[in-house]
Amino acid sequence: MAEDRHRLREKVALITGASQGIGLAIAHFLAQEGCDLVITGRKESTLNKAAKELAKLRVRVLPVVCDVRDERQVAELFAAVKKRFGRLDILVNNAGVAHSNLPVARISLTEWNEVLETNLTGTFLVTRAALPLLKRGGSIVNNLSVSAKRTFPGMSAYTAAKHGGLGFTKALREELRPQGIRVIALLPGATDTAIWDAFWAGAPRKRMMSAETVAQIVVNALKLPQDSTVEELLIAPTTGAL
Ligand SMILES: NC(=O)c1ccc[n+]([C@@H]2O[C@H](COP(=O)([O-])OP(=O)(O)OC[C@H]3O[C@@H](n4cnc5c(N)ncnc54)[C@H](OP(=O)(O)O)[C@@H]3O)[C@@H](O)[C@H]2O)c1
Repeated sequence: MAEDRHRLREKVALITGASQGIGLAIAHFLAQEGCDLVITGRKESTLNKAAKELAKLRVRVLPVVCDVRDERQVAELFAAVKKRFGRLDILVNNAGVAHSNLPVARISLTEWNEVLETNLTGTFLVTRAALPLLKRGGSIVNNLSVSAKRTFPGMSAYTAAKHGGLGFTKALREELRPQGIRVIALLPGATDTAIWDAFWAGAPRKRMMSAETVAQIVVNALKLPQDSTVEELLIAPTTGAL
């Protein structure tokens, strides 16, 4: 149907951690659908490079340097979104970090805090600041991981953050249901991105999915008619890798 093809045209989408990896791939697919974009990350040079590439797809792109752990930077991000676009239709909480593969006995508090603050508290801070701009018909996608349900040794902080993220996502979904805002939990399995450099540098990348595959599935879910939603997207590599 023609309406389906244009469902996302001129929507405003904000993707955190969109300078590379899965976030950048989602931004790319949304731009192809005609969405205007707000993309964030901490490293300005990588973010601006991504913004330049995305702008070639003839959509408006606003890159904003923002550390999702910092409440003040998050407030400034949404002030910038409000000023430029006046609204938000799609929020993708994607920014995330991994940690070195270590048993609980050896993980430092610094590493623990970095992972929890980025992957869990960051999602809360960004969502809370986004809510005043999201209206009926809007969507939130929280990029969690299969680690939100499955457990791998040596990944305690990541697993705790992602399990917590799933709990947060479920509570948020119920709160926003009456307002007609869809909340999607994204649970990808192993995807070939730079995040593996921290977890397991020698991981078998060829057995993983591409970031583009994950992005394609997310965008298909966002294109569903407004009377339906996919509450959880668990996407696994056909090879069986993680
Ligand atoms: N790759 C996988 O196998 C896999 C599987 C399941 C789920 N995931 C999840 O997918 C998400 C994206 O990861 P990825 O695999 O695409 O990794 P990636 O290539 O390392 O990308 C991570 C992105 O997050 C940004 N970021 C990190 N910390 C941030 C912070 N404090 N504030 C703002 N931005 C921050 C990074 O930019 P800067 O460093 O410039 O800030 C980068 O743009 C993560 O939540 C991850 O847990 C990944």
